[in-house]
Amino acid sequence: MKKVAVAEGDGIGHEVIPVARRVLEVLHPEYEFFNVELGYGRWEKTGCPCNDHEIAALKDADAVLFGAVTTPPMKDYQSVVLRIRKALDLYANLRPVKGDGFDIMIVRENTEGLYSGIEEIAVDRATTLRVVTRKGTERIAKAAIRLAKTRRLLTVGHKANVIKSDVFFRDICLAEAKAAGVPFNEKFIDALALDLLQHPQAYDVVVTTNIFGDILSDVASYLVGGLGLIPSANIGDRFALFEPVHGSAPDIAGRNIANPVAAVRSAAMMLEYFDDADGAHLIEQAIRQTLAAGTRTADLGGTAGTREFGEAVIREICRRKKAP
Ligand code: NAD
Ligand code: IPM
Ligand code: MN
Repeated sequence: MKKVAVAEGDGIGHEVIPVARRVLEVLHPEYEFFNVELGYGRWEKTGCPCNDHEIAALKDADAVLFGAVTTPPMKDYQSVVLRIRKALDLYANLRPVKGDGFDIMIVRENTEGLYSGIEEIAVDRATTLRVVTRKGTERIAKAAIRLAKTRRLLTVGHKANVIKSDVFFRDICLAEAKAAGVPFNEKFIDALALDLLQHPQAYDVVVTTNIFGDILSDVASYLVGGLGLIPSANIGDRFALFEPVHGSAPDIAGRNIANPVAAVRSAAMMLEYFDDADGAHLIEQAIRQTLAAGTRTADLGGTAGTREFGEAVIREICRRKKAP
């Protein structure tokens, strides 16, 4: 029995997460689910987007299913998702991008770098401290290497030609890869971003720092049809949180047109984390079959709504469960 915290968050989180939750309920009726309200909507209602009580509730679960939160660019508003990643020490953000002939796993360092939170806005100058620690780099390198060991290549993405904290990051990653005996190479992140689009089959596991991984995963989603499709797992040594790579998409929220695939694939990543590889596989097969049959949301050129697409996937899961 697993306890799953469900935090829909804001915007399309309220539309795509119910679909992902339903998929988990169908496959695992024994799981216990509980809701955690957090995000910008909660801030508007109560003046607080997330407090210690919510953080404790998330820690009380075996895993968190997370939607997305709206983060207004205001000086003193702290992003809830960043707070959670730090509070639960979810240092490895795994963002898989799979398509015809390529299977890329972006491993994004998730707790430091430009997201250190050490910032200062003065009258004539604003600074953000980019913090890259040995501990933070060693653990993300090791996480990427663990994955690369069962795959074929580790690529280290960095900007060591300019940024000294990236020389530090690069050197540690390459030394760890060498010591572990996994095949590796390296590339400057700007060139890597283009090459990933031009030659996706040349990439396998890509490890990089926080902001580069953030940007690279949105860019890489272009290879598979956009942000509606790619999931992520935020993993630490004690906790895990699963969320689509996309945000709360206020431009399409509330219209039942968001693509729930990224959220449902995030639920599949949760099942893998719980060692239910069969369940994860079943979800992926059902998504592929539904898309192949022409049921698609608007971002993929279709007319299916979020709920209708979700129902089609769930029907396909039930059909496959009955007749494996
Ligand atoms: P976004 O990912 O929300 O949207 C970018 C574009 O992709 C939009 O045009 C949107 O309509 C489209 N899109 C995203 N998901 C989609 C889906 N499932 N189906 C169809 N189309 C989809 O990024 P943004 O617009 O830059 O940010 C909106 C808000 O979300 C901001 O407040 C941002 O801070 C927040 N955000 C939160 C998270 C998170 O909580 N993990 C992640 C990214 C952005
Ligand atoms: C993501 C998002 C977040 C990030 C924002 C909303 C804080 O873009 O999960 O990719 O930058 O990590
Ligand atoms: Mn992002």
